[in-house]
Amino acid sequence: MKRSLILASLALLCCIFPTEAKKKATEPAPVPEKKIVVIPVETENTQLILHANVYGSLRTVHYGQKITDVEQFTNFYLHTSGKRYGSALLTYPTVGGVNVGTTEALHVKYANGDHNTELFYAGHKQTQKANVTVTEVCLRDTITDLQIKLVYEAYAKEDVIVCHSEITNGGKKAVELINYASSALQLKANKYLLTHFHGSWAEEMTVENELLGRDVKVIETRIGASATKYNNPAFMISLDTEEFSENKGEVIAGALAWSGNFKLAFEKDYRGDLNIVSGINPHASTYQLKAGESFVTPDMIYTFSCKGAGQASRNLHSWGRNYGIYGGGKINPTLLNSWEGAYFNFTTSTLTGMIDNAAAMGLEMFVLDDGWFGNGKYARNDDHAGLGDWELNTEKLPEGIDYIANYAHEKGLKFGIWIEPEMVNPNSNLANQHPDWVIQSPGRENYQSRQQWILDLSNPAVQDFVFGVFDRTMQLSDKIDYIKWDCNRMIHSFGSTYLKDQDRLYIEYVQGFYKVLQRIRAKYPDTLIQCCSSGGSRVEYGQLAYFNEVWTSDNSDALSRVKIQYGTSLIYPPFIMGAHVSAVPNHQTKLVTPLKFRFDVACAGRLGLELQPKDFTEKERVLVDRCIASYEKYRDLIFQGDLYRLVSPYEDSERYALMYVSADKSRAVVFAYSLGYHHGEKTFKIRLDGLDGARKYKVEELNVDKSCWKGSGASYTGDFLMYSGILPVQEYTYDSAVFYLEAE
Ligand code: GLA
Repeated sequence: MKRSLILASLALLCCIFPTEAKKKATEPAPVPEKKIVVIPVETENTQLILHANVYGSLRTVHYGQKITDVEQFTNFYLHTSGKRYGSALLTYPTVGGVNVGTTEALHVKYANGDHNTELFYAGHKQTQKANVTVTEVCLRDTITDLQIKLVYEAYAKEDVIVCHSEITNGGKKAVELINYASSALQLKANKYLLTHFHGSWAEEMTVENELLGRDVKVIETRIGASATKYNNPAFMISLDTEEFSENKGEVIAGALAWSGNFKLAFEKDYRGDLNIVSGINPHASTYQLKAGESFVTPDMIYTFSCKGAGQASRNLHSWGRNYGIYGGGKINPTLLNSWEGAYFNFTTSTLTGMIDNAAAMGLEMFVLDDGWFGNGKYARNDDHAGLGDWELNTEKLPEGIDYIANYAHEKGLKFGIWIEPEMVNPNSNLANQHPDWVIQSPGRENYQSRQQWILDLSNPAVQDFVFGVFDRTMQLSDKIDYIKWDCNRMIHSFGSTYLKDQDRLYIEYVQGFYKVLQRIRAKYPDTLIQCCSSGGSRVEYGQLAYFNEVWTSDNSDALSRVKIQYGTSLIYPPFIMGAHVSAVPNHQTKLVTPLKFRFDVACAGRLGLELQPKDFTEKERVLVDRCIASYEKYRDLIFQGDLYRLVSPYEDSERYALMYVSADKSRAVVFAYSLGYHHGEKTFKIRLDGLDGARKYKVEELNVDKSCWKGSGASYTGDFLMYSGILPVQEYTYDSAVFYLEAE
């Protein structure tokens, strides 16, 4: 049967959910169709193939390069395919029936105490709109009225497939969802190299590669808020290799869009198959699904590359730019942030002085960080008081925010301001007025972290308050262009005085967060908003649907930032990374790095400064002004171009290089850094990537009078630059260079 015929015949079976399902709630489940169904979910270069056998078991039999004749999958042999039973490659494995071994995507407990669910294929449909094809596959339990819809959105040009599940209780009694993953993905290979990201405050997105052995490897968080502090809900899997490669081999990348507890389970079973189950962490979150109700799980984003990790990252970056990130593709302003330059100690004149300097240096925005609010005994003069009391501190800033914002605008700068609206210090009027708004377990000690508690966003009154904080802050001046939204703690003393069902808190906290953000975006579509969470503790695609960028890490030390920014770039586009030049000795690591190295690292993301600019010497200012001015020349490549990582900072070479290339391959910028002392081999051979081999490019090192590469200033063909490369001298630790390329 030709593919078109398969699809046509499937149209007859098309999705029966949700309306018909409700009607049929008391009828016995339909007898599965006695034919094999092949469902291709396709992008320009990739294909996910779902296969329902004659008994209706749905399996994922291929995720990889595109195969033209999908009819061949009707003959796909599985040693379990002759039977209805067996859990090999099951697309959405459940607890129940014969599945006693495979990690489940779904675990339901029914009203009669039964824990068994056995799903079979009940129809599907596909619809296409421009670049996106949506496939909905319906599954039903054999004897209950539980219905599952698996939804796959295939983004053709980006080679990205985004999927989630929708679980509907079509029965008459409530059921308990004990586990309810967004997706399970099955792969068949000989080796699986897992790349994942762990860390802590000031060392986010540390990259770890590990070859998966038998059994289950779990990456999860249970901390509720600031959820990406220790682990990130994202991964790469390199197939049939023990080595991570930027440009060779098959790589699958995945990222969950959820700002709360998550769980990714990688199970290599006795057959050698890999089952990856991703979704909300069911920890303390059994979900009661009443009769007729549906639960929609968060999106799981996948991409496949047959050209190594670099292409997988570029696919995700393009998807983020075009679909996943609020305002993606727009160029965000360079800025001076007041935090490390002033902390809590400022007056209006401190800020206007910083604004003067920022304008003179050619920056585009000034951001007033923490410390501008709270009065009297709750004045925010350090981090012990004031959170929750979001009115202007009239002692520090008697002229008001409007005055400062206007001052910035008059100097040609945009203006931004910091809030942390989900939090409250016990030392605040808010804590006294609304003790019930705080997440707590009544009768137990409510632990503090950074002297603060977290508000219960599951409570609609708190949602209104948090929205109001944003809204009222925006009313302080009509010249507020940017909000830095912070979130500096996780959930301890887990509990809600509002919710009847405590199992809902972790989930409804996140849903409440999204509800507030939806209201904010409806009212303030053009305001730039940064997602900060003690630095990078909220870096994931769930919040990025509402935020323009992240504060990548509170660690502003350039040497640390090399690895943090590299790790982040594997999954998230570099243009979201706030990257700031700060003072030395660095306030976190105490390291003293050259100013040029600090700039060259920060300029590979969204450039900012985070210091007191009046402390620069005259000589330093010459370099500062030069670096800021030259950033303008290539900044569009960071926001809109393609990233090629050339040398990894994790390699033994103690070097790092990356480049961005414009979509039409006419311009590029290369960053090269020495991370150690190289007395023996002083030159750093860097083979470029992503250029047009036949075109000639003029290569010029920026921000120096004398280039570290003798070849700078001349023109070379793309193939020379890619297959032979450039040879800058980088002998000493912290030597760095930026090369700009333009086609002739
Ligand atoms: C957090 C943020 C910092 C800064 C401080 C202010 O640590 O990550 O950037 O805003 O809070 O208190």
